[in-house]
Amino acid sequence: MITIKSDREIELMKEASHIVYETHKYIKPYIKPGITTKELNDMAENFIISKGASASCKGYEGFPYAICISVNDEVVHGFPSDYKLKDGDIVTLDICACYKGYHGDSGWTYAVGKISDDDEYLMEHTEVALYEGIKEAKAGNRVGDISYAVEKYAKAHNLGIVRELCGHGIGSNLHEDPDVPNYGTKGTGPLLKKGMVIAIEPMLTFGEEEIYLDDNDWTIITLDGSHAAHFEHTVLITDDEPIILTGDGKNGKE
Ligand code: MF3
Ligand code: CO
Repeated sequence: MITIKSDREIELMKEASHIVYETHKYIKPYIKPGITTKELNDMAENFIISKGASASCKGYEGFPYAICISVNDEVVHGFPSDYKLKDGDIVTLDICACYKGYHGDSGWTYAVGKISDDDEYLMEHTEVALYEGIKEAKAGNRVGDISYAVEKYAKAHNLGIVRELCGHGIGSNLHEDPDVPNYGTKGTGPLLKKGMVIAIEPMLTFGEEEIYLDDNDWTIITLDGSHAAHFEHTVLITDDEPIILTGDGKNGKE
């Protein structure tokens, strides 16, 4: 069932999502060669707690860390560790916060130092694919319109789509209906209505689409070792333009 959020719920989701945005902004300057991913995890968790929220990932279905940190060929659900980021890595921080019972969710891929042209290309176009999807997230459209827009953009730029993973509804649960796949057919799937909140999150690779599950039973990694990028926003559906709750307030515009 897809829930329609009340005004009160939307206020709390705005707050949770803004904390996620602020956490990204706080952490970004520390994403440099030499820092460990565990240090970034701990800083993010302390920041989220300082804002009166909690890190939604911690304990979610047994996930052991506050945030997911995925490096290079890791697509999602990477474990923070003693690994020291090095020049040329790309790293995704997937941050979820819970404020007064409501969640916000945003993942973002960052460059560590100077990265390759291929990684620049992958990151730039995965971010644009997210905004192509967001444009379709309005009342009267269907989930398939979002999926189609992401797929079309990814294919036009020769990027692989990790199909096993989807965006999702979000609210008092981190994952709610509907699934929001990154491929699909226009005009199909659940109807979008004012007051729904969804997380849109293309996960694209520079190579093939196949993935495998790490021995830790969580981390998803590309089979061919190609790098992956992941950009995610929590978005409120309105009768007009969608509102990016995890954004900087400019709603995707410069
Ligand atoms: N943004 C991630 C997702 O939608 C959050 C995962 S939390 C975890 O899958 F605990 F499952 F890692
Ligand atoms: Co998500």
